[in-house]
Order: sequence, then C-alpha cells, then structure tokens
Amino acid sequence: MRKDAKRNTKLAHSGSHPSDQAGIVNPPIYRASTVDYGTVAQMQTLRKNPNDNFVYGRIGTPTSKAFEEAVAALEGAERTIAVGSGLAAISAAMLAFLNAGDHILVCDNAYSPTRNLSENFLKRFGVETTYYDPLQGSAISNLFQTNTKVIYTESPGSHTFEIQDIPAITDVARKANIKVVMDNTWGAGYFFKPFEHGVDISVQAATKYYVGHSDAMIGTISMCGENIQPVINSVRTLGYNISPDDAYLALRGLRTLNVRLKRHEANALKVAKWLSCRPEIDRVLHPALPSCPGHDIWQRDFTGSNGLFGVVFKPLSENAMHAFIDGLELFGLGGSWGGYESLLLPTDVTRTVTEWEKNKQCIRFHIGLEDPDDLIGDIESGLKGLQN
Ligand SMILES: Cc1ncc(COP(=O)(O)O)c(C=O)c1O
Repeated sequence: MRKDAKRNTKLAHSGSHPSDQAGIVNPPIYRASTVDYGTVAQMQTLRKNPNDNFVYGRIGTPTSKAFEEAVAALEGAERTIAVGSGLAAISAAMLAFLNAGDHILVCDNAYSPTRNLSENFLKRFGVETTYYDPLQGSAISNLFQTNTKVIYTESPGSHTFEIQDIPAITDVARKANIKVVMDNTWGAGYFFKPFEHGVDISVQAATKYYVGHSDAMIGTISMCGENIQPVINSVRTLGYNISPDDAYLALRGLRTLNVRLKRHEANALKVAKWLSCRPEIDRVLHPALPSCPGHDIWQRDFTGSNGLFGVVFKPLSENAMHAFIDGLELFGLGGSWGGYESLLLPTDVTRTVTEWEKNKQCIRFHIGLEDPDDLIGDIESGLKGLQN
C-alpha cells in the first residue's frame, strides 16, 4: 500500500497479509502461551529482538500484530502496542515516563479512572498530580515545574466535551521537554490525527469504536521514535497482554470503522440538533455545535464527530430524570460506548480546579446505528412525560 494512502484505504488494507496465510484474507486467531523456538540458535536470534519477533504468548501473536499494524497506520504512528483495556493503555503509557518525585498535569475533565490512577495510585509512588483547566492552551506553561514530566490530555473531555487546544499545549510542552499523552478515544485516530498535532503518545479505548459491537475490551498505545521503547518496556514489565480473540474482533471492527463512524456521526447530529431546540434542554455539549466549549478548535483540528455527546437539562428533579431514563425504550443504560446500540448515562463529574453544573441534571448520550427518527420519537415521548 502506498504511504500516502487515504485513511479509508488504510483501514481496509493495513495489517492484512493474505499471502502469508494461504491467501486467506483475515488473520487466524493464534491462541498462544508457548512459542517453540526449535533450536537454541533460533531462540537466541528471536530473543535478541523481542519487539519484532514472537517469543512468548504474552508478548504478542500474529493476530495482535495485525491489529497493531492497522491501528498504527490509522493513527499515523510508527508503532502501536495493544493491551487488555483502555485503562491499561492509559496506565502503561503514564508509567512509561514517570519516576518517584515527578509531577504530572492532568486535565480536569479526564475520564474518572484516569483521575483515580493519577491522584491515588501514582501518588503512592511519589508522583504528584496538578489538575488544569482543559480550556487552557499555551497558558498551561504557567503550571510547569522543574519536575513536570507528563501532560495528560483528553479531547473532548469525558462527559463534558470541552475541546482542548492540543497544538498549543504540545508546542509549549516540547520546548520544556515534557511528554504529552492524549486519550484519543473520541477521535478514534480517524477524526483527529494526534501526531500531526504534536502529541507524543496516543492512547485509545479500542473497546469503543474499534470493537464497535460492545463485545470485547482492548486498549492501544501509539507512538513514534524515542517514545517507542519506554512504552514497550512499561507494557512488558507490567505484564499487560491482549487476548487473540479480542484482537481479532477489534481488527474486524476496524475494517468497517469508516462507515459506522459516518452513520454514528449523522445520527448523533440529527438527535443533538433536535435536542438543542427542545424547551426542556439548557445546552447540548456536542463538539460540532457552537454550544460546546472549544467548538472553534474542534472545527480547526478535527475532521468529524461521532455518536457521543452530552446534554444539560433545565432545572429538573433527580427523580424526574430517573423516570425519564427508565421510560426510554431504545436506549440502554450503561457505561461503555462506541457499539452499534444507543445508550445513555447520567453525567458523573468530579472537578478540582474548574466548575461544573452543580444543580443541573445532565446526561451523556451515545447514539447508535438505529434510525434516528425512532430515537427522537423515543426521547420525545420521555420528554413529554416530564411535563406531566
Ligand atoms: C474516554 C475513555 N477513555 C478510556 C476509557 C477506558 O477504556 P476501557 O473501558 O477499555 O478500559 C473509557 C471507557 O469508558 C473512556 O470513555
């Protein structure tokens, strides 16, 4: 495949090697612990370069390698390592660059288990966390300390959808020799190109749109150059691995990512725009709508949107909100997203240095692949119930 192939071509062909496997298009699912080296000489050769050879089941198989190759091509990375969940990807990426006595900057709207990792787990190992306002761009440099080693970014942020000025952050970080790790799950390597915007490490919960069918957990860490080996060392030291079945499912999901994302995008925009005109709704937090903080940066840096967005209701009791949620027929109530089905979740936000709506009810919607008119009809019935 040509290096300058477009992203949809990469999605269809990267990591695909039919001529190595009797012409069969998809890779076999290699279940493995032992790798039989055959001879001592061969063992020594393979072990000399464990990054590129199969030496032990935990280190990878041709199935996981095919998936990793495809993700690297999509993200524009030199290397991707797959691990067992998005959270495992986040923790391995952070641990790759941190030592006792270091300081990290974490966006205040980070996925809550990332906050837990930083302020509780990493703290036990002598790493200090400072949260920062995600809408801060180059002014983040005011928070730099001599021991700041990592800036953690997530754009848009979990539940509240602020878009960060990633190029402004990576610019000041590079000058101060600080690594920028980004949770790129929302952009999926499809709508946001992290390495073109200066990010050092892009992590994703491939559990979401790559898998796409709510039936497997997987995480990816993508990087280039000098950042490759520290991440590989971290993943190997922690013993993270990936199940070959899940790698297969995620690779299969990737092949149809572009059509699914486009449909999620169109459906979600239709529902979000409809919601933004409803009298019960205060604000819709959808990066493609001007009501979303950082919308102009989304327009500049992203090439599209997906099925996930938030809404802030006008004053409403918690009980009324619960009745609304329980009354919907087509929306599941659940935490993951990126599957073919619609879901919602009451917004759960913890903030340290920024304010978030204290007394308003908020919901995160994931719009699936159903007919959007049916979804709107379902929500409309629920909203009518609120008026009774
Ligand atoms: C933005 C984001 N990052 C990371 C994760 C963690 O992914 P996983 O559930 O695969 O550990 C999630 C999961 O909901 C998420 O929403």
